Amino acid sequence: MIQKWWQKAVIYQIYPRSFQDSNGDGIGDLNGIIQRLDYLAELGINAIWLSPVCRSPQDDNGYDISDYQEIEPIFGSLEDMQRLFREAEKRDIRIIMDLVLNHTSDEHRWFVEAKKSKSNPYHDYYVWRDGEEGHPPNDMRGVFGGSAWEWVPELNQYYFHQFSVKQPDLNWENPKVRRELYDMILWWMKKGAGGFRLDVIDQIAKDPDLKITVNGPRLHEFLQELSRETFQKGDLLTVGEAWGADIQRARLYSNPDGSEFSMVFQFEHIGLDQQEGKEKWDLKPLPFLKLKEILSKWQTSLYNCGWNSLFWNNHDLPRIVSRWGNDKEYWEESAKMLALLLHGMQGTPYIYQGEELGMTNVQYEITDYQDIEIRNMYRERMEMGYDEKDVMQSIYAKGRDNARTPMQWNDSKNAGFTDGNPWIKVNPNYKQINAHNQMKDTGSIFHFYKKLIQLRKDYEVLVDGKYELLLPKDPDIFAYTRENEHQKLLVICNFFENTPRMPLQEEWRDMELLLCNYDCAHNNDRYATTLRPYEARMYVKKKYETKP
Ligand code: GLC
Ligand code: CA
Repeated sequence: MIQKWWQKAVIYQIYPRSFQDSNGDGIGDLNGIIQRLDYLAELGINAIWLSPVCRSPQDDNGYDISDYQEIEPIFGSLEDMQRLFREAEKRDIRIIMDLVLNHTSDEHRWFVEAKKSKSNPYHDYYVWRDGEEGHPPNDMRGVFGGSAWEWVPELNQYYFHQFSVKQPDLNWENPKVRRELYDMILWWMKKGAGGFRLDVIDQIAKDPDLKITVNGPRLHEFLQELSRETFQKGDLLTVGEAWGADIQRARLYSNPDGSEFSMVFQFEHIGLDQQEGKEKWDLKPLPFLKLKEILSKWQTSLYNCGWNSLFWNNHDLPRIVSRWGNDKEYWEESAKMLALLLHGMQGTPYIYQGEELGMTNVQYEITDYQDIEIRNMYRERMEMGYDEKDVMQSIYAKGRDNARTPMQWNDSKNAGFTDGNPWIKVNPNYKQINAHNQMKDTGSIFHFYKKLIQLRKDYEVLVDGKYELLLPKDPDIFAYTRENEHQKLLVICNFFENTPRMPLQEEWRDMELLLCNYDCAHNNDRYATTLRPYEARMYVKKKYETKP
């Protein structure tokens, strides 16, 4: 059943603006990434998911593309990109590009044309409605705040945008739009792309008159056509971003017959610390039993009929060690525990840049934040009369810039990210938390991730083993097994700083300890029944020795 390269792979996400600057302008770039490929090879990852590097006015840091077949000059040139493909390939690393197909920039040639007149051939590439100024077609709102409709006086029409005003939605109902996108994808495949991550892909099949944005009626029809016309002509990893995915849809998206994608990012666990029916800024404590239930549901429901992607972090999410770990007293222990918990599961793990160092959230002054989402939300909530303290607490907890502070390479100026002025402030803790320190220290979080990646290569059970949750009602411990014909793994994680007893001793009596986030040199520690704060262990048992 396991036959695809991406089922055994570990992916590393790079947010190019914040990874490595090579020319002192304060913004990370392609040449910077090339300089750091040896670091990634050392970590052992198999592919890089590269957030968008195409030509873009950077209203939403590249998720607003004005030319899909050019590289944004602040990141480099097409030659640089091809050099990145080649240099990565030398190290057995594939490049997964980020495709933003739901919308373009308002500076894209198509939109510039579309705005000229209703009879322009590109007009129907976007979503328009007639109207009157001040009376949008309906009250739909954009994800970054404000109305989802923008008035264009020259045309007496509104255009539809689910994100910022500078990100007009493409009209997927128009077959010409789809053809243009497919040709562009085929072009990148020829250039050497190893796969694609598809931005907000469940929002392409919209019907704004019915206020439908997510999971529109023609969604899977479009996706199957997209896949047939492009991805199926290569051996690619494809992963759709699908905030609206439930199990049933995920089985379609990641159908092993390859009719849509390899896998999707689903976000059910990510919404758990937000108040129901409210926005991500409206916080509530993480319900731990629910987390176990949901992650386990995804593990068992896609077994043999789909494929999971495993992630805690990306460029839109706060740092996991600050979010569900403890970034103070148990920073190292909790970062490792969260890593082991996730990397023991079935699916393709994604590591977001700096996660392998336990990089943490930040708390900046409001003027130091750069993200359009944070800025719009701050303005809106202040106007609505929210208490500024609460607004800032929400930003500290959930703001996207938590993930976008520069990568912490070493303890020199600007953490080794740039010689110039970084486009966003460096996290002040870079003198303690940085790659240089951790690479020297074999007990570091970096080396822990490295071991987890290696284990996935060495133990097939990590790739194909069936998952079973243990102790579903235990309030402290997240424990599960993975099992195939030959091997059985046992993962035990203490999710908090309590010191619970582990009621499962029988299970591990004849198992070997593979990995632990504490010093477990002594037998007593290896099989200790009381768990230390955030302690995490992985055991293995070879079930049947091969018969003579
Ligand atoms: C996705 C991206 C996010 C972007 C949005 C609009 O959610 O991950 O960064 O702002 O789509 O393209
Ligand atoms: Ca630069």
